Order: sequence, then C-alpha cells, then structure tokens
Amino acid sequence: MKLADYKATLSFSNGSPAMEMPVYHGSIGPDVIDIRKLYGQTGMFTYDPGFLSTAACQSAITYIDGDKGELLYRGYPIEQIAQNCDYLDTCYLLLNGEIPNEKESQDFHKLVTYHTMVNEQMQFFLRGFRRDAHPMAVLTGLIGALSAFYHDSTDINNPEHRHIAAIRLIAKLPTLVAMAYKYGIGQPYMYPRNELSYSGNFLRMMFGTPCEDYKVSPVLERALDRIFILHADHEQNASTSTVRLCGSSGTNPFAAIAAGVACLWGPAHGGANEACLNMLEDIQAMGGVSKVGEFMEKVKDKNSGVKLMGFGHRVYKNYDPRAKLMQETCNEVLSELGLEKDPLFALAKQLEKIALEDDYFVQRKLYPNVDFYSGIVQRAIGIPVNLFTGIFALARTVGWIAQLNEMIGDPEYKIGRPRQLFTGAARRDMPQVAKR
Ligand code: CMC
Repeated sequence: MKLADYKATLSFSNGSPAMEMPVYHGSIGPDVIDIRKLYGQTGMFTYDPGFLSTAACQSAITYIDGDKGELLYRGYPIEQIAQNCDYLDTCYLLLNGEIPNEKESQDFHKLVTYHTMVNEQMQFFLRGFRRDAHPMAVLTGLIGALSAFYHDSTDINNPEHRHIAAIRLIAKLPTLVAMAYKYGIGQPYMYPRNELSYSGNFLRMMFGTPCEDYKVSPVLERALDRIFILHADHEQNASTSTVRLCGSSGTNPFAAIAAGVACLWGPAHGGANEACLNMLEDIQAMGGVSKVGEFMEKVKDKNSGVKLMGFGHRVYKNYDPRAKLMQETCNEVLSELGLEKDPLFALAKQLEKIALEDDYFVQRKLYPNVDFYSGIVQRAIGIPVNLFTGIFALARTVGWIAQLNEMIGDPEYKIGRPRQLFTGAARRDMPQVAKR
C-alpha cells in the first residue's frame, strides 16, 4: 500500500482535539484511512457491524469492482480465466500470483494429482456419522480431522508446512466430498485415478462404482471445472474472513479451513445455492411460472421473511460476472443432457426477467449472483442438493489457503481481536439469594 499525499482529519463537536490520520492508496479501489492509532490517541473505537466500511487486511489476491460487476484473480478478469485456464492453473495463480508456464503447470498438476488419496483411517472416522448427516456437517469434521492425520504440515509459521498443507487440502477435498456423498448413499468409496483431470476424477469418485468403468463426459467435466474456477476466491467474504481470523491465532491450516467450511454453510453465504434450488423447487411445486408473480409479492413484503435466493450481494451492485458465465454453462450442460426444456431453468430465467424489471430490485441494485444458476447446473450433473455447498467448499479451499498464507506472510499481521460497544449492565453487586 502507498501513503497518499493527503490525510483524513477527525474532528469532534465536544471540544476534544481533532486527529489526523494517514490515508493509503491500493493499486485499485477505494483509499483507506488508517485508524490504528485512534484508540491510543482518543480512547474511542469505531463502530462498523458487518464491516461495511472496514478493510481488515491488505490483500493482493482478488479484487471485485461491485459497481462494474468485475472480478479479478491476481489482475486477470474471471471471464478470461474461465476461458483460458483449468481449475488447477487457477489454483496456481491464486497461490503464487502468476499464471504458470507449461512446465510449472505440468508440475503443479502432477503434485496435486499425487496427493489425492486420503489416509485409509479416514473412512473409519467417517463411519461415526449418521448416514443422513448433512454433508457440510461431515466435511467440517473430516477437514478438521486432517490435522490429526498429517502432523508434518500443521505449523502455520513454517512456509514448507503451509505449502504441503495447501497441496494436501486442494488435492484431498474432492476425495473427501465424494466420500461424504458415497457414505450417505451407502455405496463403496472410489479411490482417485491419477490419469484423470481434477474434475474428471471427482466425477468418477462421485458417480462411478467398482462394478463397471466410468466414462467421464467432457461437457460435464468442463462445467464442473468452471464451477470450481468461479468459486475459487472472492476476497474478504465471511468464510475467508473466518479463516483469516481463525488462522490469526496461529492454529494449523486444516483447523482454519474447517472453520471456513462451517461459516460457508450458512444460507446467506455458501448455503445460498442449496437454498436457491429449494426455492425454485417450491415455486415449481406451487404451480411454476404462473406463480412467479405471487412469489415476488412475498419477496417484496418485508414481513414475509422471504428472500429471492441467489439475488443480491454485499459487493456487487451490478450483474455478478460469475452469474453470466454460469448461465452460459447452464445452457451447455442442459443441451448436452437433452434437458433444454428443464422447467427449473425456465423458472429461474422468468424470475430473473421479472426481478430485473421490478422497481424493488432496481432501486436496491439487486442482481443475480453466482448461486442463481449454479444449482441448476449441479442438479443436472447429478449432484444432490445438499452437496452443493460442499462443492463450493471444495472450490473455495484454494482461496482460503491463499488468503491464509498471505496473512501469515504479512509483516503487519496480528491476532484478530475486534472491539465492542458495550451496552450491558455496568458493574453491580450480586444480591443475596433471598433478595433475587
Ligand atoms: N431478496 C429480497 N430482498 C433483498 C435480497 C433478496 N435476495 N437481498 C437484499 N435484499 C434487500 C434487503 O431486504 C434490503 O432491503 P431494505 O434496504 O429495504 O432493508 C436491501 O435489499 C439491501 O440488502 P442487505 O441485506 O442490506 O444487503 P447485505 O449486503 O447485507 O446482504 C446478501 C447481502 C447476499 C446477504 C443478501 O443480498 C441476501 O441475503 N441474498 C440472498 C442470499 C444469497 O443469494 N446469497 C449468496 C451471495 S453470493 C455467494 C457468496 O458469495 O456466498
């Protein structure tokens, strides 16, 4: 960050002296006011629930311009990455800052491919879960448990440990997600196959059985790879901030990523794709496209508690660029599978059309986000609805790890410890039992 040639002055109407604070420029995006000395100099904190105006860190990984609807990984637009890279090249870019050359790409693909197996003991651990457990509950447990299996990569302050943990997490997540799925349906686990691509291998571990060969469909393989790319990182969102906060105490990378998975589960974040598909199915059950108007009235009624899932975003105040790419993939997958007339896709398009013309959504700058179409693609591929967020977690692991490693390498990093505006009881004396 670069010091700006101007400062911010904070003045008070109660006669307290004004305070000058430095301002920094990033490479793009809004300038930031450095308030670190505020408490020391004034005895006051700032109040910003939800971090609406607070940058909690400096980062050089991902940048979103919410007004333009632009998403950059290490400076490259998401559209160019989606067209020119596969997921593992995207991982390399996020982790290392540069797109790999041919040799680097081959080496990285090989490194990840040869770490996809998990300790055999993991399957016994999995057996402790109920078969009907939500996959996110299972994944939070399994990923946290990795730290109990890989003792040689748990020191967050050792760059070598962090590197090995990063490769292990990226490589093993597909295996764990597929195991969570197979366990739920009572089918045997499929071991990874090294000759397949990252997404091809995942498709086989999900849908293959030991009884016959599984042929990977190139269209589905590409669609899944694109889902992974689009979800790989998204700057300082709730789960990434959770990973940073958790990691800031010096905990091991596996534990920090498990914390991210737990945060991602919520319906306002990663759980939105599951919630969105459930919403589409509910409207379909109510009567489909003919009920869209009625449903939209509920969404606009604040007392109903109904939201249009897959719509709106804290940062995007324009079309989420990932939603455009996902809509394109949706078309490709549905036509490959002969599902062009899929009623849920028709319903989603109708909802989007109405929302984009409706004053409620226009005024609040609410546009479709990535989750609006990703559920339809995943459902068409055969992924069960309750596994959607698990797929998101698989894809986002690289972003979490890249952000965690960036934080540990930042000389300004400190343990995260927000302040509070205390509104509870001031000190008081405990009454005797008889007087309570
Ligand atoms: N449907 C109806 N109204 C909405 C919606 C929606 N999906 N999203 C926001 N609004 C309204 C909200 O009620 C508020 O109205 P008002 O100003 O009258 O009080 C206004 O728009 C601003 O919304 P907000 O809740 O203050 O915005 P936020 O930045 O706090 O929340 C959000 C962002 C993503 C949590 C929210 O838009 C939402 O809940 N969307 C649905 C869930 C969803 O699709 N989440 C996925 C996000 S993308 C994937 C990811 O990155 O995790």
